[in-house]
Amino acid sequence: MSTRTKIAALLQSREFGKEFTVKGWVRTFRNNQFIAMNDGSTLNNLQAVVELNSMDESLLKRLTTSASISVTGELCASLGKGQAVELKVKKLEVLGDCDAEKYPLQPKKHSLEFLREKAHLRFRTNTFAAVFKLRHVLAFGIHKFFNERGFVYMHTPIITASDAEGAGEMFKVTTLPFEQTPRNPEGQVDYKEDFFGKATNLTVSGQLEAELGAMAFGEVYTFGPTFRAENSNTARHAAEFWMIEPEVAFNDLDDNMQLAEDMLKYVIRYAMDQCPDELEFLKTRLLEEEKQKPQEERSEMDLIAKLQFCLDNEFQRLTYTEAIEILKNSNPNKKKKFKYLIDKWGADLQSEHERYLVEKHFKKPVILCDYPKEIKAFYMRQNDDGTTVRAMDILFPGIGEIIGGSQREERLDKLETRMNEMHIPASELYWYLDTRRFGTVPHAGFGLGFERLIMFVSGMGNIRDVIPFPRTPKNADF
Ligand code: 4AD
Ligand code: MG
Repeated sequence: MSTRTKIAALLQSREFGKEFTVKGWVRTFRNNQFIAMNDGSTLNNLQAVVELNSMDESLLKRLTTSASISVTGELCASLGKGQAVELKVKKLEVLGDCDAEKYPLQPKKHSLEFLREKAHLRFRTNTFAAVFKLRHVLAFGIHKFFNERGFVYMHTPIITASDAEGAGEMFKVTTLPFEQTPRNPEGQVDYKEDFFGKATNLTVSGQLEAELGAMAFGEVYTFGPTFRAENSNTARHAAEFWMIEPEVAFNDLDDNMQLAEDMLKYVIRYAMDQCPDELEFLKTRLLEEEKQKPQEERSEMDLIAKLQFCLDNEFQRLTYTEAIEILKNSNPNKKKKFKYLIDKWGADLQSEHERYLVEKHFKKPVILCDYPKEIKAFYMRQNDDGTTVRAMDILFPGIGEIIGGSQREERLDKLETRMNEMHIPASELYWYLDTRRFGTVPHAGFGLGFERLIMFVSGMGNIRDVIPFPRTPKNADF
């Protein structure tokens, strides 16, 4: 059994003179004397000091960046700046060598693009150590938030036969052979021969199943992977991303907005409480990155000020119709600076419009509601005006849409009519419609894109840098 002390604990300890064993990886080794080592328990390194001439030269040569080591020594007050304590090395063992000639990461700054190609090793850098620690803490914070409110965590299927969003952006799941696919007499692929006996795909959303759970538990949420085969190669889209989808019986759209705002503020505050070192590091990283940009493209606030600002201010709520008026009369629209000009009601909002509203006009998070039914999914509750639905999108600075949700259409006849109009096969969704047949109630829910939340909190500008192994068009490495 190994009695090792984690670096996080040791850096807090003041038991000077006591002996400790620490295991981890070499970050740097300077002057044949100072080992900076890290074991992942904290962003901060431990300094282990080798007394001159106390160790075999051939052993010290093996202290290359990323070599794994075990160090036993005495805890001392540190004279060097940057740390309060250090370990005076008595025993040193190299557990695993790391050939400096072949190891791709140098103890210097690498570009994020370079590190994406080395995604199997990038956890070892400070930036990704901070980002993925935040990812963990945010996930935990989300479970904590819902658990404290009595929500039931529900696992919805990853393989399904339905298209929850009706947008047709699905990855097929099949065991049929590509060559010689079985065909029916009409010449179509015969899915009866397939593994499940029908056409299946990876889920785009757990919402429809979450609604079933909400009709018994009252309040449920999902937190799982979702998949979209939308071929948009942007910094905010991934083909595989994680979504959090609460669904609440008896909630209307206002309740839904409040729940979403409360949840976002709760988890941002939780991350600020749990990850001060990581956020401080990421704040500095972002400031340095922004120095490369022209003045007008730099953020007005640093990362931590931006998070605090988000906590201190109520999100701006307005309708789609009001937003269109603002956009129509905006400078970039009049001067034809938008790529997609806003000329009429009904247009889908592009990310440039969302970001104008959030970053230039209101300068704070925005909740837009009551969208035209034509640009939204079939399940959203229809307003009495006959043209809009009780949809809501939450837009965040630097991100655009972070949440999409709605009050659901709980009236069977209205839902069936809308499904018909949108060519959604009611027979395949009989189980969904059953909730409207057997004790239907008003209800509402939303989906939070987990990676977009991490982007906001970490200040990282590309979704590829907040999920360990991103899946994007033409990329499924690792
Ligand atoms: O707006 P969306 O498509 O809504 C739904 O899927 C609903 N079923 C949610 C619900 O009401 N239960 O997706 C929800 C969120 C978006 O706001 C965005 O943050 C994220 O999921 N998202 C993506 N994130 C990364 N990559 C993609 N390709 C994404 N597509 C959506
Ligand atoms: Mg959406």
